[in-house]
Amino acid sequence: MYSASATKTLQEQTNKLLQQIKQDPPVSSVINELRNVLRFHEYRYYVLNDPLISDFEYDTLYKSLEQLETADPALITPDSPTQRVAKGLGTDFQKVTHLVPMLSLENSYNAEDLIDWDRKAKELTGKEEVEYCAEPKFDGAGISLIYENDLLVRGATRGDGTEGEDITTNIKQIRSIPLSAAFSEYGIQQIEIRGEVLMTKKNFKAYNDKLAEENLPPLANPRNAASGSLRIKDAKEVAKRNLEAFLYHVGYVMKSEVRSTKYEVPHTHADALSMLWNLGFRSPENEKKIIKGIEGVIAFCKEYEAMRDTLPYEIDGMVIKVNDLELQEKMGMTSHHPRWAIAYKFKARQATSKLRAVEYQVGRTGAVTPVAKIDPVPIGGVTVASISLHNADFIAEKDLRLGDSVLVERAGDVIPYIVKSFPELRNGTEEIIVFPTHCPVCRHVLVKPEGEAVWRCNNINCEAQVVERIIHFNSKDAMDIRGMGEANVRKFYELGFLKDIPSLYQLPFEKIKEMEGFGAKSIDNLKAAIENSKSQPLYRLIYALGIRFVGEATAKTLANAVSYLPDLQQKSLEELQQLEDVGPKVATAIYDFFQNKENIELLQQLEALGVVLKNEHKEIHSSGNLNGLTFLFTGTLPTLKRSDAEQMVEANGGSILSGVSAKLNYLVVGADAGSKLEKAKKLNTVKIITEEEFLNMLKN
Ligand code: IVH
Repeated sequence: MYSASATKTLQEQTNKLLQQIKQDPPVSSVINELRNVLRFHEYRYYVLNDPLISDFEYDTLYKSLEQLETADPALITPDSPTQRVAKGLGTDFQKVTHLVPMLSLENSYNAEDLIDWDRKAKELTGKEEVEYCAEPKFDGAGISLIYENDLLVRGATRGDGTEGEDITTNIKQIRSIPLSAAFSEYGIQQIEIRGEVLMTKKNFKAYNDKLAEENLPPLANPRNAASGSLRIKDAKEVAKRNLEAFLYHVGYVMKSEVRSTKYEVPHTHADALSMLWNLGFRSPENEKKIIKGIEGVIAFCKEYEAMRDTLPYEIDGMVIKVNDLELQEKMGMTSHHPRWAIAYKFKARQATSKLRAVEYQVGRTGAVTPVAKIDPVPIGGVTVASISLHNADFIAEKDLRLGDSVLVERAGDVIPYIVKSFPELRNGTEEIIVFPTHCPVCRHVLVKPEGEAVWRCNNINCEAQVVERIIHFNSKDAMDIRGMGEANVRKFYELGFLKDIPSLYQLPFEKIKEMEGFGAKSIDNLKAAIENSKSQPLYRLIYALGIRFVGEATAKTLANAVSYLPDLQQKSLEELQQLEDVGPKVATAIYDFFQNKENIELLQQLEALGVVLKNEHKEIHSSGNLNGLTFLFTGTLPTLKRSDAEQMVEANGGSILSGVSAKLNYLVVGADAGSKLEKAKKLNTVKIITEEEFLNMLKN
């Protein structure tokens, strides 16, 4: 898409623009350059996964473009990078008819199936050997895109193959899909291209972790996550899901009148993939292989199956296509699938088993999770015997009964999941699953808050919760006390060595020494791990505390917002909400946690035991203009949003304090500043500046 010299030029333009913007507001004469540069960086980031600038630099350029377009809306073009942004909630999706139906693929499961299919292909084409193009079968949601006069004009779901839904606004949230592409260079006036929208395994896991933090049931697999995401009515939410798209097929082409064009319309499937790649799409250009004869195809499929787990996204097989488009035409199609293509499906990661029992686990927040015990079955190399059923609603929705046959799926490194039960296989001995009314551990009555799906034990001294809180505190992403492990926490708790989190730092090692399985070496290791945990970065401690809805990302945000953990007690609900990704619900949970006396006492106890509550690992940007300086903003600033201003401080090496104190260097004052300004004036040591002066500090 971009040659080495184009890349160099664009990178130079980027630096020039960044330099200019730092000094003066952007001028409209650079608007086209800004757009080109932004498109280039989107391509580097979203298609190549190889960004050349930081997110902050990208945002700076993007905001400048936005500023210019807001000042003069006549300058906006439909393919401007700003035009992906959706406003408000969408209405119902309009039904659209596919001009050429989106057919399925014929399936094959082994070498014999492929050899059979190859024989038919040779018959139909009259060739002795057929040239194929093989590529991954992406496990996502099928889409169709129409470009007219180089502009993306429609994005639709596959639907039933004949009729789909218009999801153009949502499609624009997928940043690897260009809003415009130079099809005209190929003499193409209108084109329909097809592909698959995916969620990477990493994004899927992150998304499910977020759902789990909110006690919502996880999505079953990345495929469901992708297809569900495409049908969300709020495009902003779609943008947050970080979807990706592979485009692998040309549905139809309408040529333009122009006779001589720069390139020819492709004659083979592989050329079509190259065309898409060259126009900036993510096509399987680097994944595909052109192979003569079916033997090579079989070997390639096996090779790919062996490395399936190392890919960042899920694939469920390979697709083999006759490469020559003229031969494809000759072979034609059935009403169900083209004769020129076949899917080779990898070994299923599904199995059937019997649901034997349901056990109930109490988590650290008191949530009671039902867990299915099934007859153990091997799926994709792992034996599955226990599967979370999430909550009572899930059991009802899936109509699960004890004794039912169930379909179980385990996709890649994803947790196992019950896809469905088979009511048609019941013989009358199956039993309804009755959710308990009392905590299985402490017998406290269970409650279900309005609007939540989870039954909860509200007894915070419930043994199960205490133990789970200690286990979470210890865990790898939290304080990472190695050598402790879940089993030891349970054992030490039973023996009375552990009763709460602080007791982790007061273990009676003289007694542990006497226990079986604890040699001098393992005791030393455990002691060292406990000692090391005292100086873990602050965000780990925050995460370890197990505040509701506070996962690792939010813990990092909180850690960066203070220099000393108990300072969070001083943050108002409003201030908390100004932090990145902290909405009202999360802010309330954090606020409640730090207003609770018992939690503050817990922090004091931990500090007395040597746990560091200071932020010693706060990111320092050595190149920043504000290195080592502390700031606080008060009142309404004339142009900047407070959260943006705070981010600018941090991006330039400074830090934000939560209140006026002797540690504060600068108080940036806007309109209607109140008590903070008064306090700063009294202190004498604090420099009081305006937004303009602050912005000047950034420039110098
Ligand atoms: S070609 C007319 N290529 O698999 C043939 N399909 O099970 C068009 N799929 O509906 C399809 N990866 O959504 C093709 N590399 C690939 C694919 C692929 C995934 C999906 C597609 C199709 C389904 C059939």
